Amino acid sequence: MPNHGGTPLTGVIHLDPQFTVGEVNPRLFGSFVEHLGRCVYTGVFEPDHPSADTDGLRTDVLALIRELGVTMVRYPGGNFVSGYRWEDGVGPADQRPRRLDAAWRTVETNQFGLNEFMRFAAKADLEPMQAVNLGTRGLQEALDLLEYTNHPAGTAWSELRRSHGVDKPHGIRLWCLGNEMDGPWQLGHKSADEYGRLAAVTAKAMRDIDPGLELVACGSSNRAMPTFGTWEATVLEHTYDLVDFISCHAYYEESDADVDSFLASAADMEAFIDGVVATADHIGAKRHSAKRVNLSFDEWNVWYQSRPVNNTDTPDWSVAPRQLEDVYSVTDAVVVGSLLITLLRHCDRVTAACLAQLVNVIAPIMTEPGGPAWRQTTFYPFADAARHGRGQVLRLGLDSPVHDTARYGEVPLLHATAVQGEDGTLTVFAVNRDTARPLELTADLRALGPVGEVRHTVLTDPDRHAANTLQAPGRVTPHQVGETSARDGALRAVLPPLSWNTITIAPTT
Ligand code: AHR
Repeated sequence: MPNHGGTPLTGVIHLDPQFTVGEVNPRLFGSFVEHLGRCVYTGVFEPDHPSADTDGLRTDVLALIRELGVTMVRYPGGNFVSGYRWEDGVGPADQRPRRLDAAWRTVETNQFGLNEFMRFAAKADLEPMQAVNLGTRGLQEALDLLEYTNHPAGTAWSELRRSHGVDKPHGIRLWCLGNEMDGPWQLGHKSADEYGRLAAVTAKAMRDIDPGLELVACGSSNRAMPTFGTWEATVLEHTYDLVDFISCHAYYEESDADVDSFLASAADMEAFIDGVVATADHIGAKRHSAKRVNLSFDEWNVWYQSRPVNNTDTPDWSVAPRQLEDVYSVTDAVVVGSLLITLLRHCDRVTAACLAQLVNVIAPIMTEPGGPAWRQTTFYPFADAARHGRGQVLRLGLDSPVHDTARYGEVPLLHATAVQGEDGTLTVFAVNRDTARPLELTADLRALGPVGEVRHTVLTDPDRHAANTLQAPGRVTPHQVGETSARDGALRAVLPPLSWNTITIAPTT
C-alpha cells in the first residue's frame, strides 16, 4: 500500500512464535581486528596507556568491547593477512622484525602477534576466527601455523609455542582460508580455479591435522564484483566437501545525497545472501549432497570509501597511522541496525558474521592515543542486537508503506524482525526508513498470550548527521520511549522518522 505525503504512516507486524526462521547463532555478533591503521596499535593494544594492563591491553577498550556484546573476532586481516608472515609476531618482542605492509602502505612492528591476540580474545571473552595467508603464502605455512596454535606438544612448532610461554594449545576452531582472493587489489590475487584448488588442498591438509576445524572459503568481496556468483560456484566446486562456510563481504555508504537508497542498503545485503545461498545449494544439489554450506558474512558495515580516508598523519610507510577512521552519524547507525535486522532474518543460513572492524578503523569504538575511548553511534544498534537478538527469529508478516528508491526500486519503509529468547521475552527490532514522518507500529501479539512489561528504546536525532566525537562523546545516545504499550493482544509504538528501535516485551511473571 503506497503511502503518499500527508497521511500518517502505519505499519503492522503479524507474528506467531510457532513460525520461526531458526535459532540465532551467537557467532552472528562477531567483529574484526585487522593490523590496519590504529585498530591494533593504540586501539586494543597500547602498553603506555594509563589504563593498560600487564599485557598492554587497554582496559577501557576491553570494557567497551564487553558492553558491545561481541562474541567472536576475526584476525589478523583483511587485506593485511595476504602478505603476513605469522612467525614475525611470535617470540621475544624485541627480536621481532619490522616489515612493510604492502596492503595498507604502512610499517608493521609486530609488537602484537598471535599470542597477544589470543590473550586479548580471552580477556574480552571472544571466540577467535583466524585467517591464513593464501595470498603470498600457501599450504605449508597454514599447516605450520595450525601446528603452532593447536598441537599440544612434542613437535617443532608446538614446542616453539611452549618456549614462548604458551604451554597449552590455543585450540582455534574457526579458520578463514585467505581473504578476498577474488579482488585484483589483493596481494596474491587468484582466479576462482586457482584459489579454489589452493583452498581445497589447504582445507584437506588442515583437516588431516585437526578434523574438528570449521573452515571458511572466500566468497566475493562484494556483490558488484564482475565474478559474483561464478566465483562462489567455482570455489565451491573445488571445496564443497571440505569447508563449512563461504564468506560474504559488503560495505555501504551514502552517495549523491541519496539518503533513501542508503537507508535501503539492506536490500542489497538481502539479494547478496539469497544469491550466495542459491549458488551454494546449486553446487550441493549437483553433488547430491545432504550437506549445506552456510554463509559467514565476515565483513559488513558502513564505510565511506569515496571520502578521503582521514589520512591526517599518514605519510606512506608510517606506523599505525589514522586510516579509515570514519565518524558515524545517526543515519549510519540506522543503516547498521537495518543490516543487523537482515542478518537476523537470515539466521538459518548466515551463521557467522563480523562487523568490520572493532576499534578505530570503520569501528563502533574509537580511542585517542593516551586519551579516552568512546562509543560511535553504530555502537548502539550492535549492542542492542547482540544483547537481545538471542533465541529464535520469528517469521513475520509485515504490512508496510513503501517508497521508491533510485538504487533499489520500491522498498518498505518499515524494516523489522522479532526474536524470542529462551525465557519467552520477545524483542522487536525495527527501523523507520522515512526521514520525515513517524510510523505508528502495531504488532499482533495474540499468539503470545498474556504479556508483561514492555520497554522501548530508540536511537534517533533531529539532526540526522549528528555523531559522537572526542569533543562530544555523548552527543548521540539511545533514549527510552514511555508511551509504548503491549495491551489486549497488541503492541502499539511510534517509531520516529529515521530511527532504530528495540522493543522488548517480557513474559508475565
Ligand atoms: O575492512 C577493511 C578492508 O576491507 C579489509 O582489509 C578487506 O578485506 C576489505 O576489502
